[in-house]
Amino acid sequence: MSGKTKLELVFIPSPGRGHLLATVEMAKQLIDRDERLSITVLVIKPSFDPKSSAHSYSPESNSRMRFIDITEVNSLSMPMNSPLTFYNKFIENHKDPVRKSVTKIVQDFGPNCELGGFVIDMICTAMIDVANEFSVPTYLFFTSGASVLGLIFHFQGLRDFQNQDVNVYENSIEELSIPSYKLPVPAKLLPALMFDKGAARFLNHVKRFRETKGIVVNTFLELESHAMKSLSEDDNIPPVYSVGPILSSDDGSDRNPKYDEIMKWLDEQPDSSVVFLCFGSTGCFDDENQVKEIAVALERSGHRFLWSLRKPATEHKFRTPGDYDNPEEVLPEGFLERNSGIGKVIGWAPQIAVLSHRAVGGFVSHCGWNSTLESMWCGVPMAVWPLSAEQQMNAFLLVKDLGVAVEIRMDYRRDLMGGSNMIVKAEEIENGIRRLMQPQSEIRVNVEAMKLTSRMALVENGSSFDFVGRFIENVVKNMS
Ligand SMILES: *[C@@H]1O[C@H](CO)[C@@H](O)[C@H](O)[C@H]1NC(C)=O
Ligand SMILES: *[C@@H]1O[C@H](CO)[C@@H](O)[C@H](O)[C@H]1NC(C)=O
Repeated sequence: MSGKTKLELVFIPSPGRGHLLATVEMAKQLIDRDERLSITVLVIKPSFDPKSSAHSYSPESNSRMRFIDITEVNSLSMPMNSPLTFYNKFIENHKDPVRKSVTKIVQDFGPNCELGGFVIDMICTAMIDVANEFSVPTYLFFTSGASVLGLIFHFQGLRDFQNQDVNVYENSIEELSIPSYKLPVPAKLLPALMFDKGAARFLNHVKRFRETKGIVVNTFLELESHAMKSLSEDDNIPPVYSVGPILSSDDGSDRNPKYDEIMKWLDEQPDSSVVFLCFGSTGCFDDENQVKEIAVALERSGHRFLWSLRKPATEHKFRTPGDYDNPEEVLPEGFLERNSGIGKVIGWAPQIAVLSHRAVGGFVSHCGWNSTLESMWCGVPMAVWPLSAEQQMNAFLLVKDLGVAVEIRMDYRRDLMGGSNMIVKAEEIENGIRRLMQPQSEIRVNVEAMKLTSRMALVENGSSFDFVGRFIENVVKNMS
């Protein structure tokens, strides 16, 4: 460390409370491990998400982690044609305030302290330019899995190193061999973000991932050993560190007015008897017929259920779903009454608390990466029903590669506006639920093992524990 004894890392998470919380969990792991490190989190506070200012986060009593608000450059007047173009421009607009803030941080350093680098997330690659101006390395915090990281590197490589038009794989029925997956991947499961007009823009971020000096991934080696190996064997990819599972300790339970009611209901159910349905913070079905098919399936399966049913946002396409005042309006007639003894329909769910409850025996999920990690951590098998983004790929990994999930419909896809031209029929859903809830099935045994492994990864000498150490060594080495 060129004779200095302290190294300061500057974290720049994407705007939004969720990103901030994930970053904080990651940052905590680093400072807990090494006294030489301190961390400043630059919080870009968007006016479209006022909850995410630095002050709304109550900092731990750790003097080596602090938060600085970056004053927002007006975003409300910016065109909202697509989320990615909006965010790209939004981040680009904040290079200057970040530059000023870091200049000030460096000026205030004591004699023994130096800037050790930037840690950015997936869509903040524009900030690599700012890190370069300060002559420090950039590291990436990747919040999805290693398999998907390998997938997007593979496609960016096809496009940029082999001059291939990756759009040919859109709507293709081929099966593709992708280094980070053990089995050939059906092209129809590929994330839409890699194609059409979005392709160039998203893969351009991926191209810049290669400029970083290390990528920290929220996964654990035993969950994605094949992907981790393939990434480490590729000399054109920076070193990858699996340091997870990093689960947010804040799932909003304290702000959920229904929390006690939900837990009390679960307390009254037998062990592993309840199937929990939840499709993530943005997950909902625009088509009421789809909601009805789920209801019919639940009723026919005869299993106890806890169903987080969200109401699609009406006006604004970036708005997250809300809760129904009266879910009866979209459910089959008399559904709630008939099932009052065995099921409960709720709105927003305190997910980790629910998955941790002994009464929950299966999880019908959209397979967002965080939900996937939470399910493994709690040892609850999944029935996959992905909606968008990279969720189909996560579903593939869970069902085909790891054998910890059953399929409801792996190739379901919602379009950008939240609709879908597919309807999954009650029969298919019921069938999935029945297989999911089988006692002593192979998936249940596998997920139980994964629960143990995920916990072992984090303790002393576990794989993620070791990777955190190696990452810190890399950071220190890059400054010497
Ligand atoms: C997981 O959750 C964190 C916030 O808690 C968010 O930043 C991240 O984007 C999520 N990852 C995925 C793949 O959805
Ligand atoms: C971790 O490994 C080190 C070095 O091999 C050893 O000294 C230590 O006892 C191990 N700790 C645990 C908890 O196993």
